[in-house]
Amino acid sequence: MNQRIVTVFGATGFIGREFLRCLDREKRDFSVVRILSRKNKDISFLEDLNLNIEYIQGSITSQKDVETAIKGASHVVNLVGILYPTRNSSFDSIHHESVKNIARICNSGSVQQFVHISALGSSLDSSSEYARTKALGEKAALSLFPQSTVLKPSIVYGPEDDFFNRFYRMAKISPVLPLVGGGQTQFQPVYVSDVAQAILVCLDEKQSVVGGKVYELGGPHVKTFRQLLRLMLRYSDPPLKRLLVPMPFWLAKTQSIVFELAHQLFGVAPMLTMDQVELLKTDNIVTAGSLNLLDLGITPKKLSKDTLSYLKS
Ligand SMILES: NC(=O)c1ccc[n+]([C@@H]2O[C@H](COP(=O)([O-])OP(=O)(O)OC[C@H]3O[C@@H](n4cnc5c(N)ncnc54)[C@H](OP(=O)(O)O)[C@@H]3O)[C@@H](O)[C@H]2O)c1
Repeated sequence: MNQRIVTVFGATGFIGREFLRCLDREKRDFSVVRILSRKNKDISFLEDLNLNIEYIQGSITSQKDVETAIKGASHVVNLVGILYPTRNSSFDSIHHESVKNIARICNSGSVQQFVHISALGSSLDSSSEYARTKALGEKAALSLFPQSTVLKPSIVYGPEDDFFNRFYRMAKISPVLPLVGGGQTQFQPVYVSDVAQAILVCLDEKQSVVGGKVYELGGPHVKTFRQLLRLMLRYSDPPLKRLLVPMPFWLAKTQSIVFELAHQLFGVAPMLTMDQVELLKTDNIVTAGSLNLLDLGITPKKLSKDTLSYLKS
């Protein structure tokens, strides 16, 4: 039997770390788990895993690094994404050009399965560049390596998330929380271990079942942004009471100009960008009739006090 080698791009991120833990727990027969990261190797979470990790320091934007990472791999997962562009990384280079590169290299090598993580709301017609480049990436993956499987999650939450944790941190120091656009945008938050499990199922499943398919990943509940913040406050330990103040889109955009300027001048990560305000204008929920977690045999976890138990002082 050929060796099963899985290359994971974006393994050091929020979903990537959970995916590696899931791989470790479920003891799949991958002889090597190869990861590519821009960071130095001293990544402490890797030490807790009983996986045969091959670490490559490099960037997904380098053809040579991607070739090295995929050489001899039977399975590839791409979890690389950015929320805002930086000097070295544009949305197009990360979400589109790099995916094109990966898919081409998958096609010319020994790769059987390529699981590409995109995002719900991706659309070639979107006013958000994040969403447009995500759509271009999906298209590139499916056309250049037609056996690819694309997973598109709504907001992903869990102990190390950047959504509930961010608003929880804000709530701890501020008596008010802003509701961009009045907080009416709908989301379908999905628990991080369900997303990690979905990746694993796609890697294990026959190509004839998942190859060339797009799955939309959402939790069991559709909630507005306002409802999500209310839940976050109610399930925090101890529960918090804060005023939720509607902020019109135009005001959020004005504020995000200041955040983006601070990012350009001082390198401070922006709390909100103009592109994210654009994204917030469209609901982020699973399309009726699309393939989803249930089609992968996964019953999505409920958004509850239990799954939000990490929000504590
Ligand atoms: N989290 C969510 O709510 C959510 C929702 C929908 C879709 N998604 C998508 O799911 C994927 C994973 O999300 P996440 O939340 O886990 O992201 P994350 O925590 O921000 O992690 C991003 C990962 O991308 C890697 N990366 C960034 N630029 C890179 C480069 N030039 N070369 C190599 N690696 C690079 C980072 O690795 P290093 O820093 O170690 O290089 C890190 O491992 C992304 O595509 C994201 O768009 C996430």
